Parts: sequence; C-alpha cells; structure tokens
Amino acid sequence: MEDSQKKIARRIDDYYFGGSGGERTLRENRKALDSLRLIPRAFQGRLECDTTTNLGGVLLPLPIAVAPMAYLSLLAAGGEETMARSAAKAGISFILSTRSAIALEKVAETFNANRRPITTSKATAALFFQLYLMKDRQLTFAYIDRAKEAGFDGFVLTVDAPYIFPRRRDRANGFVVPEKMVRGNLPHDFVPTPQKPEATLLPTQLLGRSAAAFDDALVQEAVIDPDIVAEVARACSPMPLVVKGVMAPQDIAMAGALASGAIVSNHGARQLDGAITAVDAMALFSESHLERPRSLWMDGAVSFGSDLIRAVALGCDGALVGKAFARALRRGGEAELKKAISLIKEEFQVAMALVGAQSIGEITRAVLYFG
Ligand SMILES: Cc1cc2nc3c(=O)[nH]c(=O)nc-3n(C[C@H](O)[C@H](O)[C@H](O)COP(=O)(O)O)c2cc1C
Repeated sequence: MEDSQKKIARRIDDYYFGGSGGERTLRENRKALDSLRLIPRAFQGRLECDTTTNLGGVLLPLPIAVAPMAYLSLLAAGGEETMARSAAKAGISFILSTRSAIALEKVAETFNANRRPITTSKATAALFFQLYLMKDRQLTFAYIDRAKEAGFDGFVLTVDAPYIFPRRRDRANGFVVPEKMVRGNLPHDFVPTPQKPEATLLPTQLLGRSAAAFDDALVQEAVIDPDIVAEVARACSPMPLVVKGVMAPQDIAMAGALASGAIVSNHGARQLDGAITAVDAMALFSESHLERPRSLWMDGAVSFGSDLIRAVALGCDGALVGKAFARALRRGGEAELKKAISLIKEEFQVAMALVGAQSIGEITRAVLYFG
C-alpha cells in the first residue's frame, strides 16, 4: 500500500516537474537565467521602489504572476483555490488553466475575496483565464463568456500546444491525469446537436465521468491561424487577451499585433525538446527591431526574485512563475506557498534596490553583464 502511494506520488512529480524528450530545454531554462549576471549599484538604491507594471494593459502591483498549470489539485487537495487565495493576498497575479479541478467561478470568488492593494500603488493582483483553441471552437467562446461573468480581469490564449510533445517519463510511467481528478471546468450545460457533430466528443456522458474525452477535446487539431486569434481577441474585448507561447521574433511581433500582449515561453520545457529558452528568444527579439507588443512577459525556470530583475532587464514587463510555486504547494500546501511567495517578493524588492532601480522602467539592459 505504502509502496503504491509512493509510486503514485513519484508519477505525479514526473508529470509536474519533468520535461519533454531528453529534458535538454528543462536544463537550459535554468542555465540561461544563471548566465545573466547583475551589476550592483552603490549610490542609488532605495527600498521604496515603484513596482507597478501591467499584463495586457491591466495595472499590477508586482511583475509576478502564477503561470497557468493543469490540475494543481494533483499536488494538494483544493490546489487551485489555495493558489488563488495565496496569490491574491500577496499581490501576485494568477492565470488559471482551463485544466482546473475547481470550476473557474469558484476560483474567481476566492481570488476576488482576497485581493487587496499592495505596496504604495493602488493596484491589486489580477486574475486571468487561460484558454485553448479547442476542437469545438464554440467551447472556447463559451469559456470567455463564463470567465467574464465570473469576474476575471483578462485572458491568456496558449498557442504553443496544438500538438503535445511526448513526455518520456509519463510514457514510461503510463501516466495520464487520473479519471477521478475532477475536470472542474467541464461545460455543465453542453448538449451535442446534429449541427455540431464534433460535439459528439463531449456527449452528456462527460458530466462527471469521461475525463479523457474532455482532455481530448481540449487539444486543438489544426494550425492556429492569425484570424482565429483576432476573433478570440474580439470576443474577449473589452478585456485584454495575451498570447502565450511565442518564441520566434516574428511570432512575438504577430502576437502583439493581434492581441494586447505576448508571453515568451517554451511551455516550461514541456513542448519542443531542444527549443531555445525565453532568455534566448528575448535576445533575438531585441536584435530583430520588430515592434514590441504593448505588454511582454516571459517564463521558464523563474524561481528567485533576481530572476524577475533579469526578465525585466531583457525587456519584459514581468515574468510568470510555474514549477517553483507548484513545488511549494506540493511540499506543504498553503503554509509553504505563502513562504515561497513572500520570499520571492522580498528578494525581488531588495534586488531592485541593489541594482539601483526605483521603478520597473529603470530596470534596463544596463543592469546585465554578459561577459
Ligand atoms: C504541470 C504543468 C502543467 C501546465 N499546464 C499548462 C496549461 O494548462 N496551460 C498553459 O498554458 N501552460 C501550462 N503549463 C506551462 C506553464 O504555464 C509555464 O509556461 C511554465 O510552467 C513556466 O516554466 P516553469 O515551470 O519552469 O516556471 C504547465 C506547466 C506545468 C509544469
């Protein structure tokens, strides 16, 4: 019994913290951040810095957001709500994945009940909903309506996962998200009709049961074309849409042209194995002299407050934190998460003062040493 519990725990760890293929990108993500060293300044740092920034135009008190991650409840019971509550209290924004064990309405209620102004700015943390372009497009649009109604501040559209790169650990373990893990965002009013044959992927049997069919329906099956992104952006309006998972300079610029912002990401090393890192992608983008999206974020191995300085110095408005917060949740639920969030915030604020920046705009490439 003990052994089988351990085995399940290890499989969940492999799913959550492993990477795709040979895990080269997983290693490179951390290395790339480490390669950027910071130049301390002696005569200008003050601890009372203005840390206000924006995600897709929504004003935020801090340049940190929790990355959308599937089924946080695999790590701790009620994981999505714990993450929402801890983030909101600390002024950290949260992007809820479509793949959530708890319904988006409930997560929004928890987040909104706990958000409050942080630091000297009046801004509070924001709550975004992460969308996929699903096989049945109407389902994507239905999520937009639900999230608007529920009190979300904006949307993130993930464009780097039209196909899922095999994960060797999961294959070896025979891991799939367990059937008993509740698909909290399952559309409860969905009824297939003859006019929508693809809806047969989501028959009423799904209500509380066939999780695998829901997972299958989440994955889209065609190349994501710019017109559909523009259509999704229009449906999200007046709320912002931020496109997540762009790396090539042309794609970053295209995301900026189609939506309110872009997130440079290799999906936490879970998609193309051997992909460049967000650090590389930001360097390529700045060399390209293409037009910068109005809001630009990155992610991948961001774990320390000083990593946020690196991201901003590379030209971002902020960075998402994925596995580092997931690890804290896994380690000790709300208590550990609270500690991890407060530590990264403190590190960030002190690092900002030590590089001599008094606002996010003052964290420039001049704080980086590439030698
Ligand atoms: C277990 C896991 C599940 C994820 N699920 C999603 C998801 O549902 N949607 C999405 O856009 N990104 C997803 N991501 C990617 C994250 O949003 C983010 O890009 C990545 O984790 C950042 O890298 P880091 O984990 O090294 O910080 C997931 C990442 C992990 C680790």
